[in-house]
Amino acid sequence: MNGEIVFDYRETGDFVKGYELEALETQVLAAHEILHRYEGPGREYLGWLDWPLHCSRDDVEKILRVAGQIRERAEVFVVIGIGGSYLGARSALDLLGHSFYNNLPRERRGGPQIYFAGCNLSSRYLTQLWEIIGQKELVINVVSKSGATLEPALAFRFFRTMLEKRYGKRGTRERIIATTGEKGALRNLARQEGYETFPVPGDIGGRYSVLTAVGLLPVAVAGIDIAGIMAGARRGCRLYSEERSANNPAYRYAMLRQILYRKGKVIELLASYEPSFLFFTEWWKQLFGESEGKDQKGIFPAGVNFTTDLHSMGQFIQDGYRNLFVTTLWLEKPALDREIPVLTEDMDGLNFLAGKTMHYINGKACAGTIMAHSAGGVPNLKITIPEMTPRFYGQLVYFFEKACAVSGYLLGVNPFDQPGVEAYKKNMFDLLRPPQK
Ligand code: PA5
Repeated sequence: MNGEIVFDYRETGDFVKGYELEALETQVLAAHEILHRYEGPGREYLGWLDWPLHCSRDDVEKILRVAGQIRERAEVFVVIGIGGSYLGARSALDLLGHSFYNNLPRERRGGPQIYFAGCNLSSRYLTQLWEIIGQKELVINVVSKSGATLEPALAFRFFRTMLEKRYGKRGTRERIIATTGEKGALRNLARQEGYETFPVPGDIGGRYSVLTAVGLLPVAVAGIDIAGIMAGARRGCRLYSEERSANNPAYRYAMLRQILYRKGKVIELLASYEPSFLFFTEWWKQLFGESEGKDQKGIFPAGVNFTTDLHSMGQFIQDGYRNLFVTTLWLEKPALDREIPVLTEDMDGLNFLAGKTMHYINGKACAGTIMAHSAGGVPNLKITIPEMTPRFYGQLVYFFEKACAVSGYLLGVNPFDQPGVEAYKKNMFDLLRPPQK
C-alpha cells in the first residue's frame, strides 16, 4: 500500500492552541483506556473494535461464495435495509465501483444491477423500482439486525409476495438472503423458510456494521475486493490503537472536533471533491449523528460535495453564521484523470488550462476553498486519502469508527446507543394501530 491517510489541522488558525491539545490529552488517554478495557458506556456494543482482527477467513469466504452465486444467477440484486443496514454498502459501491455501474453492459459489470429498497416509505420509489426490475432474474438481500424495522419489513413483504407469485415458495427461498441478528422476526422467518443467512453480531451496532456481512455481501456482489477492505480495516485497527494522540490521527481528529465544539463550532461539514463520496458522507453523518447527538449535546454532522455545493452552500460557509467547521476529505490520486483539451480558437478563454488535468484543477479548487473559508473564520480540518482502493476504504471506515467512539467519550455521552430514534417510532405506531376497545 503506497502512502498513508493523513490528518491535517494546520488550517484551524487561531482556533486551536497547542496548550488546548495538551490539556485534552489526559482525557483522550482516559477515553482510550475505558474503550480498550471495555469499561465505558455502551461497552456491550464494542464488537467492532477488534472485528477486523476477529473476522475469520471462513466468514469472508462464505460471503464470496454466496456473492459468486448471486453474480452468476441474478440480473438484479436488491438490498433491503435502512440506516446502518444499507449506508455502508452503498458508500463502498459508490467509492469503489463504477459511477454508472447499473448502466454498464452486463459483461462489463460481471454481476447484477444493484438497487436499494426499504430505506424509505415511498410507494413511488418502490413502484418505479419494480418497473425497472420487470421480469429480470432477481435475488434479494434483506438486511435488518433487529428484524423489526418498519421500512425494510414492509419492502420485504412486497418483494416476498412478488417473488412467491413468480417463483412459488421453493423458488423464492433460493432468491432470498437474510442478514440479521441472532433473534427477532426475520431470524425466525429465515429459519422457518430455510433462507441463506448471514449474522449481524449482537455486539456490533447498525452504524458500526459495514465491515460485517451487512456491508460486505452487497459489495462482493459488485465484484469489489472485500478481502482488501478487511486488510485495510485491520491496518486501521493497528494504527489507530496507539494511545497517544500525537501518534494516532483518529484521536487527533476526535480532539480537534471537541476543541472546536467547545468554542461554539456546533456544526461539522464533511466536504469532499468527488461525487462518489456522497453516500460515504451519508454513512459518516449517521455514524456521528447517532453516536453523539444525545443528552442535548453534540456536533451536528452535515455534508457538502464540492465543487457542486460551492454554488449553493458556498455563500453560507464563507459568510454566514459562524458556528461551523469543515472537514475536507481529499483524494490524492483519482482513479481516472483527463487532460483539458486545447482549442484553436480560445473562445472560452480557458486555453491557459490546456494540458492540465481535471484533478489538478480540482486540487486548486480545494486549496483555494480552504484558504477562503479559513479567511472567512471557518476552521478547516483535512483528511487526505492517497487513493480510493478497497484497502484505503477499509482503513478510512475504521479511522472514523475509532474517532467517533473517542469523540463520544470526550463529549461525555454513550456513543453506542440511540434512544432518540425510538420517539418517532412510538408516535408512528400509536398513529397506525387501531384504537384498543
Ligand atoms: O445504527 C443503527 O442501529 C440504526 O441506524 C439501524 O442500523 C437502523 O435503524 C436499521 O436497523 P435494523 O438493522 O435493526 O433494521
